[in-house]
Amino acid sequence: MRYAVLGAAGQLGRDLCPRLPGEVIPLSRNGSPAVDLSRPESLLALFDNTRPDVVINCAAYNFVDRAESEPQEAFAVNAWGVRELARLCRERDCLLVHFSTDYVFGLDAARRQPWTESDAPGPVSVYGLSKLAGEYLVRMSCPRHLVIRTCGLYGVWGSGGKGGNFVETMLRLSSQGKPLRVVNDQTCTPSYTVDVAETTIALLNAGQLGLYHVTNSGSCTWYELTRTIFELSGVQASLTPIPSSEYPTPARRPTYSVLDHAALRALGISSPRPWREALAAYLRERQQKS
Ligand SMILES: NC(=O)c1ccc[n+]([C@@H]2O[C@H](COP(=O)([O-])OP(=O)(O)OC[C@H]3O[C@@H](n4cnc5c(N)ncnc54)[C@H](OP(=O)(O)O)[C@@H]3O)[C@@H](O)[C@H]2O)c1
Repeated sequence: MRYAVLGAAGQLGRDLCPRLPGEVIPLSRNGSPAVDLSRPESLLALFDNTRPDVVINCAAYNFVDRAESEPQEAFAVNAWGVRELARLCRERDCLLVHFSTDYVFGLDAARRQPWTESDAPGPVSVYGLSKLAGEYLVRMSCPRHLVIRTCGLYGVWGSGGKGGNFVETMLRLSSQGKPLRVVNDQTCTPSYTVDVAETTIALLNAGQLGLYHVTNSGSCTWYELTRTIFELSGVQASLTPIPSSEYPTPARRPTYSVLDHAALRALGISSPRPWREALAAYLRERQQKS
């Protein structure tokens, strides 16, 4: 089995590639072949040059705030590039595995119950809307698909894409002795890319198609996550919970975007471990690598 992985240098791609059970072709915009979702001709070359059985799309335009002023760029990658990829997968009879986000939810601001795969999405940002469009374009254009929504990713290889991740940012700021004010009214499930990668492999091994939520278990706010990062790392820092109104950003975020794992449960696939355990594992792993 030959797997072509877009966004292979990103956080998730780096943890997924070594776990795939077959030949892996890691792809990036700077590699050979250079694959750019906003350049359809590079996608055609990808199929002609590598002839994959499975295409895994870990690539995305991920700049949530910048997307508000760059909707064309966000849609070029997350929607129209994905449509072309899905069309080519269908044409070449490839399975397409595509990653999406909890940010497809948020419009129902009163919601305080985990979202299932069958709940109607409703994004509150251009990024979320572009990713939702991408999901639908995959489902519409390529029947052999797995769409996997995940949330709050962090991984030790956070050097691709945006570079770094929330955990690293908090540790860096605390090491600079800065007092930290972190929002305490946005609840989600921070997720370790190793765990998301392993559950993705379980889904591939199960030979399943469709839409799945894959995150660590449980939930917390960004403030609670930060407090736990410092507790587990033995860091003393000045940390204050604040409402989102005191930290205005160009893009709105969902107040509550915890994802339920109903579709995983239906297949008898275990939910990834609780987020706190996963965070502890990440902190150990980054220490070993430093
Ligand atoms: N990060 C999160 O918290 C989060 C939360 C929910 C869902 N997700 C989703 O999970 C997936 C993986 O996210 P991640 O955190 O691993 O992302 P990441 O670390 O930011 O990596 C994204 C990758 O996409 C590539 N990329 C960007 N624009 C591209 C383009 N036009 N053509 C081809 N490749 C392009 C980047 O390549 P370069 O290295 O060349 O820049 C990078 O390798 C994405 O679908 C994302 O939307 C992420």
